[in-house]
Formats: sequence, C-alpha cells, structure tokens
Amino acid sequence: MKIQDSVVFISGANRGLGLAFAQEALKRGARKVYAGVRNPTSTNTPGIVQVELDVSDAASVAAAAAQCGDTTLLVNNAGIARLNSSVLDVPMINLSREIFETNYYGTIRLSQAFALTLANNGGGAVINVLSDATWFARPMLAAYSASKSAAWSFTNALRVELRNQNTAVLGLHVSFMDTDMTHGFDMKKTSPRQVAEAALVGLEAGKEEVLADSFTREVKQSLSTEKAIYLNPPEIA
Ligand SMILES: NC(=O)c1ccc[n+]([C@@H]2O[C@H](COP(=O)([O-])OP(=O)(O)OC[C@H]3O[C@@H](n4cnc5c(N)ncnc54)[C@H](OP(=O)(O)O)[C@@H]3O)[C@@H](O)[C@H]2O)c1
Repeated sequence: MKIQDSVVFISGANRGLGLAFAQEALKRGARKVYAGVRNPTSTNTPGIVQVELDVSDAASVAAAAAQCGDTTLLVNNAGIARLNSSVLDVPMINLSREIFETNYYGTIRLSQAFALTLANNGGGAVINVLSDATWFARPMLAAYSASKSAAWSFTNALRVELRNQNTAVLGLHVSFMDTDMTHGFDMKKTSPRQVAEAALVGLEAGKEEVLADSFTREVKQSLSTEKAIYLNPPEIA
C-alpha cells in the first residue's frame, strides 16, 4: 500500500515510536493521522487528529473505531514494559496479566475493531509493533517477551485471515530504541524515527515483516542454529 493519501490510525501516538510513526506518515504524504492517545491535549498539529483511546478498554477501542471510519492503515503501537525480578516470583502472574492486557489483547481489540473499516476502504494495512524479544526472553523481561511472542503469533494468523479482504499485515520487530521505555538502560539504541521509516518503506514495498536493526536480524537468523540467541540472551545494564 502507498502512504501517500492514506489515513493512518496509530495507538499510543503521543510519544516514542507512535509519535515517530505519525511524523513519518505525514512526511510521506498521509492525508490524515489519527493519534490514539489516553489523554488528549489541546495541542494542534496540522494533519494530526487526537482520538481518545485506551487499548485495554473494549468500549474505548470501539468508540475510536467508530470515530475513524476513513482509516486505511492501522498501527498497533501502544505497549508497556514492566520488569519482573524473577520468573519464580508469584507477582509475575499479575504483571503478565497487566502487560498482556495492553500488548496482546490491546492488539487483538484494535485489529478486530478496525478490520471491517479497512475492508470497506479497499483493504489497506495493519502494522503490529513487536520486538526482538519476540524470539528470546531474559528473566527480568519474561512477561514482556511472552506478550510480544503472543502478539507475533496473533499477527501471523491475522495476516492469513485478512488476505481474504486484501488487507496487508506487517510485523515490525525492533531491538532497543531511544524512547521513554528504555530510559535508564545503557544500551545501543535505534532512533524511533528510523524505525518508523523502515516500517513504512517496507510496507510500501509489500513486505510482511520488517526487522529494523542488525541485532534483531541476528536474533531471528540464529533461531534454528546451535548458537541460537534465545539459549544465551545478552544481559542488559
Ligand atoms: N523502546 C524500545 O526499545 C522498544 C523495543 C521494541 C519494541 N518496542 C515497542 O514499541 C512500541 C512503542 O514503544 P515506545 O518505546 O515508544 O514506548 P513509550 O515511549 O513508553 O510509549 C508507549 C506508548 O504507548 C501508550 N500506551 C501504553 N498503554 C496504553 C493503553 N492502555 N492505551 C493506549 N495507549 C497506551 C503510551 O501512552 P501514555 O503516554 O498515555 O502512557 C505511549 O504513547 C511498544 O509496543 C513497545 O513494546 C519498544
């Protein structure tokens, strides 16, 4: 699909990668960008329309979809990360539920709510923001990784089903980016703007998966090797 003249709905578009997607879509000629945000403000950016959205709330998702019936590209970006101290901690269960509510069920809710809209508007596309952590898990981010693995699985099923209505589904996998989510982690980080650009360029080229940085490509490539990264994931500082 082409970004020129598209109407893009992005969850969590007030900061981080979501905001970068909004800016990059406008740069590439999107006609309108709906920024799905939990707390709309009076900020008025030309081309960007704020829409109240909490992806963990089915009624909020339904209201946003009803308001944005001209959407042609849905970007499931909203996500949270929480650290668990050990996978053996009992609180890990509640923390997993909280993360899944946003990263996994939120992605399902929005995809379901917008599927008919996309079909009615000619097919369009869905971009699901996943992670390199789709394919490996560190103990401290085990719940987060599980949510992204689950969202990857859903993305793969969604892609097959939505082909019937001519909707493209792209999974975006990326390692550390320079956003609030990674504040305090002393790691090499990619710029969110570069990642958004790679995803939109990939979508326009007909790709169904974009691996936005070299480490993510390494992780996926290693999966079926004896030195698979998921067997010995790198530590984070
Ligand atoms: N940063 C990384 O290194 C990295 C790496 C791989 C993948 N990712 C993924 O990239 C995506 C964007 O992350 P980011 O780095 O930009 O994080 P971020 O800077 O923390 O921004 C997260 C965004 O998600 C929104 N959000 C969270 N829960 C929501 C909810 N229930 N309903 C609606 N919006 C909600 C936040 O809104 P509020 O402002 O209201 O909190 C915020 O706009 C996420 O899916 C994340 O898992 C990030």
